[in-house]
Amino acid sequence: MSVDTATGSSASSRASRPLAVVVLAAGLGTRMKSDLPKVLHPICGRPLLAYVLDAAAALQPERLVVVVGPEQEYDRVRAALPSTAISVVQQERLGSGDAVRAGMDPLAGFDGDVMVLNGDVPLVGEELLLRLRRHHIDCTARATITSVVLAEPAHYGRVVRDANGDVRRIVEARDASPEERAVAEINVGFYVFDAAELRRFLPSLTADNAQGEYYLTDLVHRFLEAGDRVADFLTADVEASMGVNSRVELAGVTAIMRARILERLMLDGATVEDPSSTYVDWGVTVGRDSIIRPQTMLTGATTIGERCIVGPGCVLQDAIVDDGASVVSSHLVECRVGRDCTVGPFAYIRPRTELAEGAKAGSFVEIKASRVGRGSKVPHLSYIGDTTIGEGTNIGAGTITANYDGERKHPTTIGDGVKVGSDTVFVAPVSVGDGAYTGAGSAITKDIPPDALGVARGKQENIEGYAQRRRLPTRDDG
Ligand code: UD1
Ligand code: CA
Repeated sequence: MSVDTATGSSASSRASRPLAVVVLAAGLGTRMKSDLPKVLHPICGRPLLAYVLDAAAALQPERLVVVVGPEQEYDRVRAALPSTAISVVQQERLGSGDAVRAGMDPLAGFDGDVMVLNGDVPLVGEELLLRLRRHHIDCTARATITSVVLAEPAHYGRVVRDANGDVRRIVEARDASPEERAVAEINVGFYVFDAAELRRFLPSLTADNAQGEYYLTDLVHRFLEAGDRVADFLTADVEASMGVNSRVELAGVTAIMRARILERLMLDGATVEDPSSTYVDWGVTVGRDSIIRPQTMLTGATTIGERCIVGPGCVLQDAIVDDGASVVSSHLVECRVGRDCTVGPFAYIRPRTELAEGAKAGSFVEIKASRVGRGSKVPHLSYIGDTTIGEGTNIGAGTITANYDGERKHPTTIGDGVKVGSDTVFVAPVSVGDGAYTGAGSAITKDIPPDALGVARGKQENIEGYAQRRRLPTRDDG
């Protein structure tokens, strides 16, 4: 039994052999009990298959083939593939061996090594795959399998060895005898094959097993029968070997990926106060000296600048937060928060909103598809929609832009240095000139020119002695 080591190897002429990678991703994943194909289930914001494809692409193979299912959802996968990658559809899900058969179609005439990767093992990294390839070359093998020893080998295929310790075959858990099931060494699902030999043996696979599927793993026995050398690459990397077959495994792998993402952010200079309650998607960036406070989710294409404070209690989805901004207990979606802005607590900043430098969106404020100019403030209890606010403007508490007439949305334009009185309703479309004021409690339906005061409310009338009269005569209601 040879053990995986990261150390160098003898230079071999085979090292220059061309490499193709085939990623198997067509399986339905019955155990997921889902309408979504398994490899498309997201882990930290991207399909789990994407991680395997990253590792595969990092090897810079001459050809990268992805075997996908016929569902329309796979269009998303195809769209995300590197331009050099080729996708093939496995129309009928007849097993991993059949999937390789489909994957070899675009490799007709290819001569070299074919690395086959299960698409449902997302924690694998390029480093492990490089070592696998090196091992295959060093062993001058025709086929190399990857194995790991697990405390609980569960549903994985077992690596069966003979008395000399040589690999004899791989047996699926469901087809294994009790003695075979007791074996703790399992098949990880990363292989390297000589292309010509792989082509030779694929047609010999049968579906004569518990699952009625063409097992890729049966190839090991075929190679050995023909006298081909099969090498084993035994890794100690248990995490890289974790397959996702159920939602329980999905959660386990997600937890590890999440921890890795947070670790990367911290090593790059961001403070994560409580990693156990912080969720950050793959690809999110956080600048130096920013602090992510507890109970915070940063998802999608979110980008946080330097020296920001985000949290506690924030959800940011596809949000851009510029340097020095602070966002507290708020929900932000597809928006941009400029330099040194303050948001929250309890703000909801919706798509197509931009807060310019130093702007404020305070407590119980909802802003949609609007621009708030430099240094302008919407401090309390407001709804601002389809609105452009200039610079240095203050929006009084309780201001509402009535942007919807029941059929269409209308814009509100508010200039620079405007003082909006509390509880103003702007009935859009309407515009307010620079330096203007509105009276508190006004329903503004007409444009206000620059420097004017717009007031639109009923005149106050005081009825003297009202309360006294109301209290008399005293009635006994019993
Ligand atoms: C497979 C291995 C098992 C190994 C385990 C490691 C086989 C027969 N067994 O088991 O020895 O321990 O992976 O995780 O390969 N696929 C297709 N088309 C199909 C069927 C499967 O593309 O018709 C793809 C799947 O998307 C997946 C891979 O092949 O990426 C493996 O299939 P899966 O059904 O997950 O096999 P396991 O039972 O996990
Ligand atoms: Ca699997």
